[in-house]
Amino acid sequence: MYLIKKIKILHETIKLIKIQKKTIGLVPTMGNLHNGHIKLILLSKKYADIIIVSIFINPMQFNCLSDLENYPKTFKKDCKTLKKIGVNIVFFPNVNEIYPYGICNQTFVEVPRLSNILEGRSRPGHFKGVTTIVAKLFNIIQPNFAFFGEKDYQQLLIIKTLVKELNYFIKIISLSTVRLKNGLAYSSRNNNLTIEEKKIAPYLYKTIKKTSEAITKENINVKEKVINKAKLALIKKGFVIDIYNLYDQKTLNILSQKSKKMIILASVWLGKTRLIDNKKIFN
Ligand code: PAF
Repeated sequence: MYLIKKIKILHETIKLIKIQKKTIGLVPTMGNLHNGHIKLILLSKKYADIIIVSIFINPMQFNCLSDLENYPKTFKKDCKTLKKIGVNIVFFPNVNEIYPYGICNQTFVEVPRLSNILEGRSRPGHFKGVTTIVAKLFNIIQPNFAFFGEKDYQQLLIIKTLVKELNYFIKIISLSTVRLKNGLAYSSRNNNLTIEEKKIAPYLYKTIKKTSEAITKENINVKEKVINKAKLALIKKGFVIDIYNLYDQKTLNILSQKSKKMIILASVWLGKTRLIDNKKIFN
């Protein structure tokens, strides 16, 4: 497994890979790898010859400095895991390598339609940071495939839109959310939960599943009632709700009528931790 820090060296390596006509799969991460990442990387190996995992804690997508500072850094442990599962290249640039003129002066990429709603409204500038770093990684690495988890559903949709609208010849492959046995979605943020909160957190997905069942069974007229019941149940457990509703899978517009492809999106706080989750519903 090669560890590469410099864009120039990675670029030279990519040229050699392309000469050998091998396909490249990119799995972008911010490190602190968990089972969700591992499953994504294992999936990538089914698609591409050479797997590149990037590890870069991207300051441009953090709208809160303390979140950035507290983001867990587990580089050595991550590399051991990546080596074990047969990753070919780890790209781990430092901030100066990616943003040599500083973040404020950085040319950026934005998907305006989907970036300023939902998570984007609660975390201004977040998706602009995500799309800028992802576009940079796509330009540097020129992968044939790039892999993203469905837990960050809005991010996935934004990246698919970026690829389509900027004409990248990259196939985006997504993987359904990987969960602990108790239903809690794997996330680096789970590390911030207290022991007590870890017992409560799985209740989020349990509630989402109940909402999904009710929406499937019942008439859409009762949607408001179903959503409010779920919200109340979550509040009783100690969650503070930012987002919990039924949306269209493509546009992310709130639905008041049943449609073919719906999704429940949830963003909640449990203590100091923001948890996000979702469930698709097909009608
Ligand atoms: O999902 C993430 O971990 C990040 O948003 C990503 C895609 C690696 C960009 O920094």
